Amino acid sequence: MEKRILELGEFGKNPQGGVSRVAFTDADKQGRDYIIQTMRKVGLIVRIDAAGNIIGSRAGKNNSKPIIAFGSHIDSVPMGGNYDGDVGVIGALECIDLLNEAGVITEHPLEVIVFTDEEGGLTGSKAINGTLQDRDMEVMSNSGKSIREGIIYLGGDPAKIKEAERKKGALKAFLELHIEQGAILHTKKIDIGVVEGIVGIEWWDVTFEGFANHAGTTPMNARKDALLTASRFVMKVNEIVRANPGNQVGTVGRIRAEPGAPNVIPGKVVASLEIRDMSREKILSIFKQIELAAKELAEETSVSISFSSLHSNIPAITDKRVQDIIASSAKTLGLSSQYMPSGAGHDSQDMAVVAPTGMIFVPSKDGISHAPAEFTSPQDMANGATVLFHTILAIDKAKW
Ligand code: HGY
Ligand code: MN
Ligand code: MN
Repeated sequence: MEKRILELGEFGKNPQGGVSRVAFTDADKQGRDYIIQTMRKVGLIVRIDAAGNIIGSRAGKNNSKPIIAFGSHIDSVPMGGNYDGDVGVIGALECIDLLNEAGVITEHPLEVIVFTDEEGGLTGSKAINGTLQDRDMEVMSNSGKSIREGIIYLGGDPAKIKEAERKKGALKAFLELHIEQGAILHTKKIDIGVVEGIVGIEWWDVTFEGFANHAGTTPMNARKDALLTASRFVMKVNEIVRANPGNQVGTVGRIRAEPGAPNVIPGKVVASLEIRDMSREKILSIFKQIELAAKELAEETSVSISFSSLHSNIPAITDKRVQDIIASSAKTLGLSSQYMPSGAGHDSQDMAVVAPTGMIFVPSKDGISHAPAEFTSPQDMANGATVLFHTILAIDKAKW
């Protein structure tokens, strides 16, 4: 399995040892081409759906039965690592190898799904559950292309996005193998995490409008410095998120000052705001508090602050039956496991809307992720793929 992880890691390789394979870039396209080739090598029939998702199909004994689907994504954050998403995709292909080697044809048809643009807002899985809106496709992605342009670049067809949709009942289950991206499994030396639920994520663009003026001639008390207000906003977000009880997290991860010159007072700033929690009500209540604080800050500094919602991932609970099958597969294989929530977002949360869904976590060394130092050992990856394999076979036989 590691061989394919390393082969895939060549596309978008960064000097720090990870990958920058941002969705819709050339590196993303090249990585996808490698996956398509590998899918064909293991005997899958490949198609690209309207959202650009790569779908590799393997016939079952009875193809009128609902599909058992599994997969993940291969796009990365800027300056990401080699394991987030990739392990689930390569692990899915390893399962197809195992089925081929054992000469097994499942009752249900199988699909390996490689989702489009996971890191930019679960674009591909939103199209599958029917919640990708026209306005979502106008959002500018980190590739410099709008999501609409990006989907076209990958061979999808935004005009026919509805065709990517799957109705409830079409899938018997959806499964995703993924690295934990936290330190619980690594610290406690547990082999497998059985994911019980996935946090909701809300993103906003926050725009600060001040007045761009000469940095040499405008006295300090006569400025409307948008970056100064934005800096105080960043502090406020952190204070508010920490002041509330619970496990919610809030982050300002991107900030752009305009015009962006050493000798001009920044007149405009666009920053991101992200809030995550298992409860959507909690996310919205924290957002209200931040909005209120922003209003006060705007009045005090004469810089206007406005919010526009970028996208939202609903929190999701995974299917209890699938959770228990994952746990018992781990047990059969002599692997230790623990039920746990996911603080990272995943395509599985969108899939949970249309199919009984489960996630299998494997340890991330030191809990590092979204960074080049991300690492999961070959043994842990193989454990995860084997649990996925057993889970697929058990679901093939399960009565629902
Ligand atoms: O940001 C996330 O949690 C996910 O990795 N896309
Ligand atoms: Mn990620
Ligand atoms: Mn991921």
